[in-house]
Amino acid sequence: MIGIIGAMRIEVEALKAKLTNASTTTISGVDYHQGQLNGVDVVMAVSGVGKVFAAICAQTMILHFHVSKIINSGVAGTLSSQLHIGDVAISSALVQHDMDTSCVGDPVGLISGINIVELPASEALYQEVASVAKSLGFNYQIGTVATGDQFVGNRERKDWITKTFNAIACEMEAGSIAQVCYVNQIPFVTIRVISDEASGDVHIDYMEFVKLAADRSMAITEALLPKIA
Ligand code: ADE
Repeated sequence: MIGIIGAMRIEVEALKAKLTNASTTTISGVDYHQGQLNGVDVVMAVSGVGKVFAAICAQTMILHFHVSKIINSGVAGTLSSQLHIGDVAISSALVQHDMDTSCVGDPVGLISGINIVELPASEALYQEVASVAKSLGFNYQIGTVATGDQFVGNRERKDWITKTFNAIACEMEAGSIAQVCYVNQIPFVTIRVISDEASGDVHIDYMEFVKLAADRSMAITEALLPKIA
């Protein structure tokens, strides 16, 4: 069983509609939809926005539904000159840009306990995502995706995250799902289609392009499933 997590309904709804033999289980207020998608057994959920909701969802998928892999599909702000609205950021690693114990001597972003800054994504998964994105004709980049409980919308913060972590895109869930997957040894990848520039007229871009970006990410996720099952 493969787990698919989106933070918002717009990031999951169209895929949910394609589930066959669907059944729903509600746990901690989140609906988990099981069934087959493109011939593959999946469980999918709208986690809610931010790191805590995403972590609850990932851990539930692992403990209750025994998923063998987790795919996070959704939208992001660009941190890369190679990624524009509609392009695809594919994670090779994840960081949590709002994790900061640097005043006691740690590197910014260090996750205490596991003592790493960069949480790895599964190479087998991110290479497969790249090949699907390419076959669908999308421009993509593989790199570090930066997560925090913050919608990044100003130049100063955008530049700081980009430089500090050498990151290509910013969003609000993938780094926490990656941490849950890391401690549970579950392969993980995030697919994030760019909805905004993470600075300037961010709210205007976001409102205009969030649906296109979410639909594109779901199209990649759907095509990916038979290749990784
Ligand atoms: N998701 C989409 N755009 C984002 C941004 N600019 N910051 C954080 N999460 C996002």
